[in-house]
Amino acid sequence: MQEPVLFAHLTDTHINVVGKNPLFGMDTTQKLREAFAELGKLTRKPAFVVISGDLTQDGDVEDYRHLRRVLDEEKEKLGVPVYVALGNHDSRPFFREGYLQEQPSEESYYYSVMEDGLRIVVLNTQVPGTHGGRLDEEQLNWLRGVLAEPAPNGTIIVHHHPVVPTMTPMMDSHLLENPQDLAAAIEGTDVIGLLSGHIHCNNIGVFQGVISAAATGVAFGIEPTSNGSMKFIDNSGYNLVLVKNGQMIVHPMPMAGDQQMVFEWKRDAAHAHA
Ligand SMILES: [Fe+2]
Ligand SMILES: [Fe+2]
Repeated sequence: MQEPVLFAHLTDTHINVVGKNPLFGMDTTQKLREAFAELGKLTRKPAFVVISGDLTQDGDVEDYRHLRRVLDEEKEKLGVPVYVALGNHDSRPFFREGYLQEQPSEESYYYSVMEDGLRIVVLNTQVPGTHGGRLDEEQLNWLRGVLAEPAPNGTIIVHHHPVVPTMTPMMDSHLLENPQDLAAAIEGTDVIGLLSGHIHCNNIGVFQGVISAAATGVAFGIEPTSNGSMKFIDNSGYNLVLVKNGQMIVHPMPMAGDQQMVFEWKRDAAHAHA
């Protein structure tokens, strides 16, 4: 019997370097620091933190350098590793240059890590140049290869664009475009759950027999029955995830904010992107 594993799932931090284009007047860096401060106060420290994309708002190289500094400080304080995925607001070349401190390139960013016998597979659902989400055949091939061997404590997949239907047709238009390919890749494997973001509200359901949980954004929330117009709310949160007896258990941790609507996107206005 494996020991239960506790970790934190954050998403949609939408960080910009301080002083540049503050998102609806909100300080997203401070919100990220507050989430880490809350993790530090828990009775049991999470073993690691994973962030499922939209790391930055504008995706500029200085935003990634700033995010790297902030996360290096916060993970040093908390004393645990931090793993990140990319979302539709992220830029592969500037992420590689500013965050990974590598040569900039359009190379996709997906990988697998093992923590306490639990395998975390981080996928990249970006479609460069668009805000849509899709898994390409190269990544699906890689995923099938990884999942061919089971992990001692099972596998959790982390990805930006969710797969479970939402409360409204408007929100449904933001889901992964080829969920059937992901479903086929995880069928019969040791995958016990999926974690995603992008829609900025908690949305939890069953996908291919396992729990799939989209978390609200660290930067802001979206009112979950938004339809016709999308209401961006000044609240925040993250999820605690426990893996116990082969099950993934998700516990939403809201961070209240002032609950004011900071932006409303109407269908006849310029498109807004979660
Ligand atoms: Fe997104
Ligand atoms: Fe987002």
